[in-house]
Amino acid sequence: MVSRVIPVESFDLVIFGATGDLARRKILPALFRRFCDGQMPEEARIIGAARTEQTPDAWRSWVADSLSEFVSPALTEAHVDVFLEKLDYIAVDARGEAGWSDLKARMRDDVVQAFYFSVAPALFGDLAERLHRFGIAHGAARIVVEKPFGRDLATARALNATLAAHFEEGQIYRIDHYLGKETVQNLMAVRFGNVLFEPLWNAQYVDHVQITVAEAVGVGGRGSYYDQSGAMRDMVQNHLMQLLCLTAMEPPSRFEPDAVRDEKLKVIRALQPVSAKDIVRGQYEAGDTPSYAEDVEETDSRTESFIAMKLHIANWRWNGTPFYLRTGKRLKARKSEIVVIFKEPPHSIFDEDAGSRPNVLSIRLQPDEGIDLSVTIKEPGPGGMRLIDVPLDMSFADALGPEAADVPDAYERLIMDVTPRQPDPVHAR
Ligand code: BG6
Repeated sequence: MVSRVIPVESFDLVIFGATGDLARRKILPALFRRFCDGQMPEEARIIGAARTEQTPDAWRSWVADSLSEFVSPALTEAHVDVFLEKLDYIAVDARGEAGWSDLKARMRDDVVQAFYFSVAPALFGDLAERLHRFGIAHGAARIVVEKPFGRDLATARALNATLAAHFEEGQIYRIDHYLGKETVQNLMAVRFGNVLFEPLWNAQYVDHVQITVAEAVGVGGRGSYYDQSGAMRDMVQNHLMQLLCLTAMEPPSRFEPDAVRDEKLKVIRALQPVSAKDIVRGQYEAGDTPSYAEDVEETDSRTESFIAMKLHIANWRWNGTPFYLRTGKRLKARKSEIVVIFKEPPHSIFDEDAGSRPNVLSIRLQPDEGIDLSVTIKEPGPGGMRLIDVPLDMSFADALGPEAADVPDAYERLIMDVTPRQPDPVHAR
């Protein structure tokens, strides 16, 4: 298997929040890896912007430190110096006037412009307004925002209105890094690239679906953010909802952004309100590691670090098939998967004690990406007709070779999808 690297257009990418955690852990390592892979054109530039007054050289050396922490030493050693030459830094005051004219002077008009808002959502409006007022962003510029996108419907609408006052809808990229994961993209291929599953993909044959994103880590140093969000806002309304939509949606007519979005939206519109008895919330307790309350330094916190819920999708395809969603931190192991449990055969021709089990399709998203389908067979040997389940197990790494495991990180894919002039990416919406 040979991976294809398609160089993107030349760009000026401004990272607001350039000294923050997301920039350090995800955005800059992702850009660096794409650079090493040859996807970034020579004239591409990355401009860090943050409140801290510092020289571009000081930021470059901070970036070099971050890369040595998050990227393999071999890669860093070989390419870091050339990569750092692409970097520039400007101190800007998101709520004031300082730095904005400098930023304007640094931007080029004849390349793709992208502005990554890696800052608290409370600043989104300020940034958008200043990019507009100082004439920094040209007509085809795009801005990139991530969750949390508001706290509820009213605040999300207000945020949308703020951004819409300065940018066209097509310029606003609301990204969800789960959609950049290779295996999540693969869900579309599995569902719509095979005839095998689609005829059975409905309430007539599917008993229920379980979507799990279990994390072994705790909230770490993000306690103050997390305690305001909880598992519901941090994981369910974005990542798990996307997985639910990709699992439950109708086939779009084409693999195009609006067509895919429209089908996802229909799933969300068909979701029935969840009753309180169908939701379980919890917090992790102390064990070898501190409790949730200790991690967030709030003894009385009632924010959930675990949530599980049962959802119903009221449409022809899914009426009567529950979807179980669950996610949490500090669980036994890191494991994300979508498990489709099919119904048992309508009538068993075997004795009751032969046993009968449903087929189960597991799509493992991480780690050890792959697909596993359990099939009932006769237990070999004498002793009559006894049935057992055997897995038809496909680990992508085994089937496709070690390169399959070496796929770009989700952020690499998403950031590179933000930069082309045309066409718009499917998963950046
Ligand atoms: C982020 C959440 O969006 O996703 C984190 O804010 C979570 O709390 C992370 O840990 C999980 O992402 P991944 O890629 O490690 O599954």
